[in-house]
Amino acid sequence: MKIVVAGGTGFLGAPLASLLARDGHEVVVLTRGSHNGGGAKASQVTWTPNGESGRWASAIDGAGAVVNLAGESIAGKRWSAAQKQRIRDSRLEATRSLTTAIREAKNPPPVFVSGSAIGYYGPLGDQGVAEDAPPGSDFLANVCVEWEREAARAADRTRLVCVRTGVVLEKDGGALPEMLPPFRFGVGGPVGSGRQYWAWIHRDDWLGLVRWALATPAVSGPLNATAPNPVTNAEFARALGRAMHRPAFMPAPAFALRLMLGEMADSLLLTGQRVIPAKATQSGFTFKYEQVDDALRAIFTRQ
Ligand SMILES: NC(=O)c1ccc[n+]([C@@H]2O[C@H](COP(=O)([O-])OP(=O)(O)OC[C@H]3O[C@@H](n4cnc5c(N)ncnc54)[C@H](OP(=O)(O)O)[C@@H]3O)[C@@H](O)[C@H]2O)c1
Repeated sequence: MKIVVAGGTGFLGAPLASLLARDGHEVVVLTRGSHNGGGAKASQVTWTPNGESGRWASAIDGAGAVVNLAGESIAGKRWSAAQKQRIRDSRLEATRSLTTAIREAKNPPPVFVSGSAIGYYGPLGDQGVAEDAPPGSDFLANVCVEWEREAARAADRTRLVCVRTGVVLEKDGGALPEMLPPFRFGVGGPVGSGRQYWAWIHRDDWLGLVRWALATPAVSGPLNATAPNPVTNAEFARALGRAMHRPAFMPAPAFALRLMLGEMADSLLLTGQRVIPAKATQSGFTFKYEQVDDALRAIFTRQ
């Protein structure tokens, strides 16, 4: 079938587009520019994700599925007021463009998988949270709530799945490469207290989960994309040290991170959530990497 992947040039979108093309689907990547994302088998259509539909919307009409991964990176730049506005607006406008196209389509796609994040739950302690937990109230939680609300505009025309993605682990992007330099120099370790939970997921499992959500009609609504065993940041640091054969006992103090990164340090590093992928496990999805040691070992032993 034809699958449209908006943001299919990024860290998650490009391997997803490649995987779906390898599965035999006709993959169309919506991109603002021209990139190499999606591999040779995916075609690209240029779009303007400004909240409105456009000529690109003809790709949506009659498609078998749409996946929405477009948005300004949350970790790329310090969170000035203008950058926070870009993080929010880029997601809401891209999603609104897609929901408008789905609403206007003569043949709407039967399934719409739209991005969201575990930031939805806000900073939490060590209680586990499943998909039915209420949202938080900080900046990222508010962005996720609005983002999912935009996606819900299409819910009466398609099966909507909002993928609440955790910390996706792979070497070529996301959070992991940013963590590596101190470990390489032997000064890696926990950040802040180390007691905050990190709900991680190996990228292969994230790809598998999205492929499964596309193909499983019984799945709809929010879907936590995290491994079944979230760990504290201190446990994560020890696992990373083991995988890299480096020491992992040097803590990075919270005040230094706040000085370097501002508000972003609290939202992305010093707090977390113990997210449980209840819907995936109860609905029969099998994770390849359930333990963080196995996920990191796989990443660091593969060339
Ligand atoms: N990676 C993670 O660990 C993680 C965790 C939680 C949630 N997520 C969410 O999952 C989604 C995909 O993540 P990712 O890591 O693949 O992100 P990414 O590598 O930054 O890719 C996002 C894509 O969105 C498009 N984009 C960038 N800036 C944009 C803007 N201002 N307006 C519209 N489109 C823009 C880009 O495509 P073009 O340049 O081709 O248009 C880019 O390839 C994001 O929404 C992210 O917040 C990711």
